[in-house]
Amino acid sequence: MSQSKLSILVTGSNQGLGFSAARHLSKLPNVHLFVCGRDANRVQEAVEKLKREEECAAEIDTIVMDITDDSSIHAAVADLEKKLGGAALDVLVNNAGLALETDGDIERDGLRTRFENTFSVNAFGTAVAAEAFLPLLKRSTARPRIVNVGSSAGSCTQMAETRNAGWMVYKASKSALNSIAISLAVANPDVHVVVVDPGLNVTRLNTYGVGADPSEGSQIIVDYALEIKGNSPGFYSAQGVVTW
Ligand SMILES: NC(=O)c1ccc[n+]([C@@H]2O[C@H](COP(=O)([O-])OP(=O)(O)OC[C@H]3O[C@@H](n4cnc5c(N)ncnc54)[C@H](OP(=O)(O)O)[C@@H]3O)[C@@H](O)[C@H]2O)c1
Repeated sequence: MSQSKLSILVTGSNQGLGFSAARHLSKLPNVHLFVCGRDANRVQEAVEKLKREEECAAEIDTIVMDITDDSSIHAAVADLEKKLGGAALDVLVNNAGLALETDGDIERDGLRTRFENTFSVNAFGTAVAAEAFLPLLKRSTARPRIVNVGSSAGSCTQMAETRNAGWMVYKASKSALNSIAISLAVANPDVHVVVVDPGLNVTRLNTYGVGADPSEGSQIIVDYALEIKGNSPGFYSAQGVVTW
């Protein structure tokens, strides 16, 4: 791999917004893209889909990682280090996430279970994975960055203003992600850390309901991955700064 390529790993990029971001990035010859997901077959299928597209120009590799599992995270870091062949990871996109609000009924699951399962991916898993990739990011001379895919739904200011009590668990997990991003930015001034809100998009997470096509929503993820934009820490949507 050429040292001048920008290496970018997108978690949860076998489908949805992560896949769309990977698709945009796959068109760029100066990118070494790591498509990452928790199921090896789904990741492989996603990569094959990207490689079949005519304008595919990036170098593309796969990484398998379940962010709720420490041994899987450590194996992913080791695999990435091998595939980078001594180069740095320039950009980590923390995109993997879920919302259990649409998945079954709260009486059956119990509120505690719903909190634990949601936080184990959106907050704990994201924090642990980010921490594990920091040494590879810190090898970068391109001012390494972490782009966290958050949501305005996690803005405490907006929650208080809109007085909409829906999706409590998901919102709390995205507020926690904001807090984690701020701590990462403050503790690692050499790493540019942002949270981006892709807006409402039609993906499995919202049961393919209303919203934009993910090819549109993922544009902000790509923009912040390719360039140092905004402040670290900073929280942005396509409309500009989002209040924490
Ligand atoms: N869609 C929206 O309107 C919207 C709005 C704001 C923010 N977001 C955020 O955008 C991000 C992507 O969501 P999406 O809408 O694209 O949903 P999605 O289509 O359901 O995709 C979620 C991705 O995360 C992966 N994932 C889930 N749990 C994981 C785990 N334990 N380890 C590794 N990967 C895991 C999934 O893998 P599998 O395929 O294996 O399940 C999938 O690749 C999330 O962080 C979400 O909160 C979405």
